[in-house]
Amino acid sequence: MKAEKTPKIMQIISEEKIRQRVRELGKKISDDYAGKQPTILILTNGGIFFGVDLLRELKNIPARIECVRVSSYKSGTRSSGNPEIFGTLEPDDFADRDILIIDDIIDTGRTLKRIRDQVENFGAKSVRTCAFLDKPARREVNFYADYTGYEIDDVFVVGYGLDYAGSFRELPFVGKIC
Ligand code: IMP
Ligand code: MG
Repeated sequence: MKAEKTPKIMQIISEEKIRQRVRELGKKISDDYAGKQPTILILTNGGIFFGVDLLRELKNIPARIECVRVSSYKSGTRSSGNPEIFGTLEPDDFADRDILIIDDIIDTGRTLKRIRDQVENFGAKSVRTCAFLDKPARREVNFYADYTGYEIDDVFVVGYGLDYAGSFRELPFVGKIC
């Protein structure tokens, strides 16, 4: 059996900073969606941790929840450039509704742009996007999210839902691979 080298991980965003920023985003989104019943579409697997934490910070917002699995990394640290959607999105779940799409991170921008375009094509009333992290230096398409937690440099990060070849999603902080 080939011995795998364990990567070194250096914390860049603490658990406390994550909690604080998610609380702020929850407040802002609750204000923006006051009186509405948005559908929150969480992109799995990476967006699960942030998505659930954010939902718990929404005040008086009776949100509906949908999930869809999207993957653009087979393994390693570079996107394939072609996000693949696993499973189907039902147009009726999105037509005439206010939709907020949630993911863990924006890198090239292709994933969130593709899903946003699709949801718009279903005839949603409004579509906004929210990502916990943003790496603007890596952008390959013209896409900016409506809500972001933290901007980071062009480094590969793990933890708080983000993985390296399927590992490290469970870390409570965000760390960079050294
Ligand atoms: P994009 O389509 O290039 O914007 O990539 C977005 C997806 O790539 C995210 O949903 C993540 O799953 C993954 N990704 C991008 N950067 C990182 C990273 O630094 N660590 C882990 N996953 C990442
Ligand atoms: Mg992802």
